[in-house]
Amino acid sequence: MPPTPAFHLRPLAPHHYGDVATLMAGSDPWVTLGVTEEHALRSLMEHPIPGIVAEEEPGGRLLGFVRYEPRGFIGYSAYIRTVAVAPEARGQKVGEAMVRHVEELVFRHVPLLFLFCSSFNPRGQAFYTRLGYARVGEVAGMIVPQHGEVLFVKRRPEAG
Ligand SMILES: CC(C)(COP(=O)(O)OP(=O)(O)OC[C@H]1O[C@@H](n2cnc3c(N)ncnc32)[C@H](O)[C@@H]1OP(=O)(O)O)[C@@H](O)C(=O)NCCC(=O)NCCS
Repeated sequence: MPPTPAFHLRPLAPHHYGDVATLMAGSDPWVTLGVTEEHALRSLMEHPIPGIVAEEEPGGRLLGFVRYEPRGFIGYSAYIRTVAVAPEARGQKVGEAMVRHVEELVFRHVPLLFLFCSSFNPRGQAFYTRLGYARVGEVAGMIVPQHGEVLFVKRRPEAG
C-alpha cells in the first residue's frame, strides 16, 4: 500500500473548480452518469454551495473534495452532494477525513445528514456504511433510466 499522504482540509474555493471538474469527469460514478468536465464545471459555478478540499502537503495538489448543502431539506437535514478522492489517493482515509469534517460542521446546526450513492457503486456504498450511514432504500432510475440511487442517512450522535 502506498504511504498515507499528508494533507490539509480547506474550504472549497473557485480556484479549485477546474481540478474538481477534472476529477469528477475522469471517474465513476460520473462517467456512467454522463457527467462531462464541462457539465461539472458549469454545475460548480451555477450552484456555489459550500465544500471542503483535501490538498496534499507539500505542493497543494487536490486529493479530494466534498460538496454539501448545510440545510438541504426544510432546514432540518443537511445533504452531501458529492464526495470524490483522486484515484491514486483512494483507500488511504482521505475520504473518511473529509466526510467526518463535514459531519462536524453540519451537526452543529441540523440533526440529520443524507446523501445518495449510485446503485452500481458498491464500494461507495460500503464506504458510507462503514462511516455509520444507514441504507434507507433505492430510488430507481433517478438520474439515468438504467440505474438507481441509494438513499443513506446519518443522525447526529447523541451528546455525551
Ligand atoms: C468512495 C470514496 C469517496 C472513498 O474515499 P477513500 O479516501 O478512497 O476512502 P477511505 O480510505 O476513507 O475508506 C476506504 C473505503 O472506501 C471504500 N472505497 C470505495 N472506493 C474505493 C477505492 N477505489 N479504493 C479504495 N477504497 C474504496 C471501501 O469501502 C474502502 O474500505 P475497504 O478498504 O475496507 O475496502 C473514493 O474511493 C472515491 O472517490 N470513489 C469514487 C467516487 C465515489 O464513489 N464517490 C462516492 C459516491 S458519490
